[in-house]
Formats: sequence, C-alpha cells, structure tokens
Amino acid sequence: MTKAPLAPYPATRLRRLRQADWTRRLVRESVLTPADLIWSMVVHEGEGRVPVASMPGVERLSVAEAAKAAVEARALGIPAIAIFPHIDMARKDAAGSLAADPDGVISRAVRAMKDAAPEVGIMCDVALDPFTTHGHDGVLEKGRIVNDATIERLVEQALVQARAGCDILAPSDMMDGRIGVIRAALEAEGHCDTLIMSYAAKYASAFYGPYRDAIGSGKLGSGDIDNPGDKKTYQQDPANSDEALREVALDIAEGADMVMVKPGLPYLDIVRRIVEAFAMPTFAFQVSGEYAMIVAAAQNGWIDGDRAILESLGAFKRAGCAGVITYFAPKAARMLGA
Ligand code: PBG
Repeated sequence: MTKAPLAPYPATRLRRLRQADWTRRLVRESVLTPADLIWSMVVHEGEGRVPVASMPGVERLSVAEAAKAAVEARALGIPAIAIFPHIDMARKDAAGSLAADPDGVISRAVRAMKDAAPEVGIMCDVALDPFTTHGHDGVLEKGRIVNDATIERLVEQALVQARAGCDILAPSDMMDGRIGVIRAALEAEGHCDTLIMSYAAKYASAFYGPYRDAIGSGKLGSGDIDNPGDKKTYQQDPANSDEALREVALDIAEGADMVMVKPGLPYLDIVRRIVEAFAMPTFAFQVSGEYAMIVAAAQNGWIDGDRAILESLGAFKRAGCAGVITYFAPKAARMLGA
C-alpha cells in the first residue's frame, strides 16, 4: 500500500510546465516573430545618416539610405516600415504647406523604397505636425486646431502619399471624421487597395518627447501666435478607456482596415479592450519615449537591454496585438534569428 502524503502537497504544480525549455516552448501562449514588426523610421531631406541625440541608435536617413533600409527590412522578414519626415525649420510654415508636396521627402522616400524593395509595405503618417512651425497636427486659428479645415489638408496630404505609392496611410492627427473623408477621397481617385491604419486611440502623452526632437518638430506653445502648449484638445485624455472604444468604433465604421493604440506599453489595457470588443487587426506604437527609456537604462547598466526589448515587444503580442510599430524592429528581428 502506498503511503498517504504527510502534508497536503499541491496536486497542481504550475512549475512542472516551467521546468525546462522544451516544456516552456510547448505551452507558450504567444510568439513574437519579425512578421509582427513595423519598423519606425525617420527620413530627412539631406544626405547620409544623422544620429538622433535623444534616441541613441536611431538615425535620420536620407532617401537613399531609406531605400537601403527597405532592402534590409526585406532580408530581416520585417513586413512594413513606417516613415516620418524631418523637415528643416526654415522650410516650414504655419499652414504646413509642405505636407502635400508631391516631390517632398516623404514622396521621394516612398518611391525609392518601393523601387528598392517592392515586397515591403510602406506606411506614412497623415498629420501636419512635421511641417508646421507651431508643431500642431492641424490648422491653427486663434489658438484652436480647426477640425474640418484640417481634414481638407489631410486629404490632400493622403492623396499625395497614395499617388507616391504608399501602401498604408496612418492618420495620426485625431481630428473627428477624417478616416471617412480620406477613405472616400481614396476611392474616388481609384486607390481602392490603399490601406488605412488609423491612430484610433492616441493619447496626449509625455512619451512622444524624443520623437519631436527626432523630426525637428516646431515647439508647442512657441511663436508670437496663440499656440497651445499641448495637444489635449485633440489627443485623448490618458485617464480614459471607454472613449478609446468609441474612437475605434467610429474609425472602423468610417473605413479603417486596422487600428492603432499609442503609446504602447502604458496602454496595454486599452489594446486588450479593443481586441476583445472589435476583433480588428490592432497595433500598438512603442513610441520614442518608450524606446529612450529602455536604451537609457540599458546604457547605464541598469537593465539588460536586449532582454527588455524582446520582453516589451512580446508583451504586445500577449495583449493581443497583431503587430507593433517600433524603432527596435531591425535589432529585434536580428535577435529573433531572422
Ligand atoms: C504626430 C505623431 C507623433 C508621433 C507619431 N506621429 C507625435 C505627436 O502626436 O505629438 C509620435 C511617435 C513617437 O513618439 O515615437 N502626429
């Protein structure tokens, strides 16, 4: 007769499944691959590569360098690249006129990248902020960002990007109703295959700081005009969650193919709610401040940077993201053994 246990030892021991690499791999619930990554990249009007001080490891790329990066993305198995423009302050104006320049750096980069690696998807931000002296995403009048006038400008910008060959338009401006108007304009011009990934739930966040440095953004609150010092009248209040669902519902109804939450890690609860409510391809943007925090801590020897990168990217997958927009994409893809 077998002896009864002396103490009420647990019948269920979750550690059994953690005991070896093979057991852990066998029961793993989510997996990160290079196919989950959208490479976030800054392009500039000049030549060569220029380091971004607040984002060690990130460089602004010339059009020629961006084309090479597209080839690299293809080799690494990264499906898509999101490009953001750095524009010389001297060339900006209050209206952000260069946003709709058919020969601007974004159009040129899209063409060069699609020529070099047509298999890689190219995504462009639709918003005026890289082009405005005041740094806001829309038309600024008497201290207000005017919604409908901004949409007219965004449509021009979106069409220029689509004509250049951009695969995914990503409106990041948070104006009400812009997805529907952009979608209608795309259809009217025959761009029926152009995808829209809306920055649906985009928060007024402190984590965009390094990005504004990277793209040489106009300083919010600056100049001799009435210039609001933050984006709180159009980007969401970080305290809100139900509101994100309403934003997403509208963008889907207006014709978005994919939706995005931004920033990333501090907003995984929002990701989860959206995935559960809509079953839409949902992405998160691991933004510049998230990048800078990991790199700075790693540079100080306070965390293991490589592990923190993969852990943070894996967290997006666990939360239910279809993929992640990240400045770590090439580094992560290499670590993932691409
Ligand atoms: C602009 C835009 C921003 C980012 C992407 N598009 C900044 C902002 O809204 O102020 C942030 C990207 C990042 O921080 O990495 N519409």
